[in-house]
Amino acid sequence: MERIDKIISSQGKYTRSEIKKLASNGKILVDGILIKKTDLKVDKNKCRIVVNGEELTFKEHIYLILNKPKGYISATEDKNQKTVLDLVPPNLYRATLFPAGRLDKDTTGLMIITTDGMLAHNILSPKKHIKKIYEITLDVPVTQIMVEKFANEIQLNDGQCKSALLETTGINTCKVTITEGRYHQIKRMFGCCSAKVIELNRICMGNLFLPKDLKLGECRELTNQELELLQIVDKKI
Ligand code: URA
Repeated sequence: MERIDKIISSQGKYTRSEIKKLASNGKILVDGILIKKTDLKVDKNKCRIVVNGEELTFKEHIYLILNKPKGYISATEDKNQKTVLDLVPPNLYRATLFPAGRLDKDTTGLMIITTDGMLAHNILSPKKHIKKIYEITLDVPVTQIMVEKFANEIQLNDGQCKSALLETTGINTCKVTITEGRYHQIKRMFGCCSAKVIELNRICMGNLFLPKDLKLGECRELTNQELELLQIVDKKI
């Protein structure tokens, strides 16, 4: 048994003083009964708690997918800049959420935001071989020399990249599949080919593709099936 205010505040959405106010305004129900005292002890696994019209669910972790727009940094907070957490809808917000990996401020696309450090490790560690696919627009035409360089493990100043698959999709556009996630990796790899990345959009992690109906700036919970797709390892790139 735990105090009701402790249970509600552990969800990260309301502070203890907000919970007190909600209770005195008749906004907390336990099994359909109005609760005024926030020191009441209940078993959170055995009762239904509704706060401000919303039922609490006690999942250990939360997994969100965001279609990141440009202009947001991949951090949990920043004094001067907007962060990807600013795009999490209030009903999904938890204080312990963080972006699993980084996309540059001017990169768009698939980003996972979670409270689960283990999942983040599993999808980001180069040892796990989770593939990431990016759509790219360059300032110059894509060449066969670039395709070969990417396949043959480009040397960056912090070490050699694993072999990457570069597929041409247009004169200045291509798709690249990598299994690592180094700082500015795609931009630096193209830098080694004397090309500048103009647009960068991540469309896939593991076997999870950015859903077509998830608009730029939208963020929602992953389904269980999507969560599984995210963690699928496919060593052949
Ligand atoms: N590579 C980059 O250069 N930038 C990103 O945001 C992601 C991959």
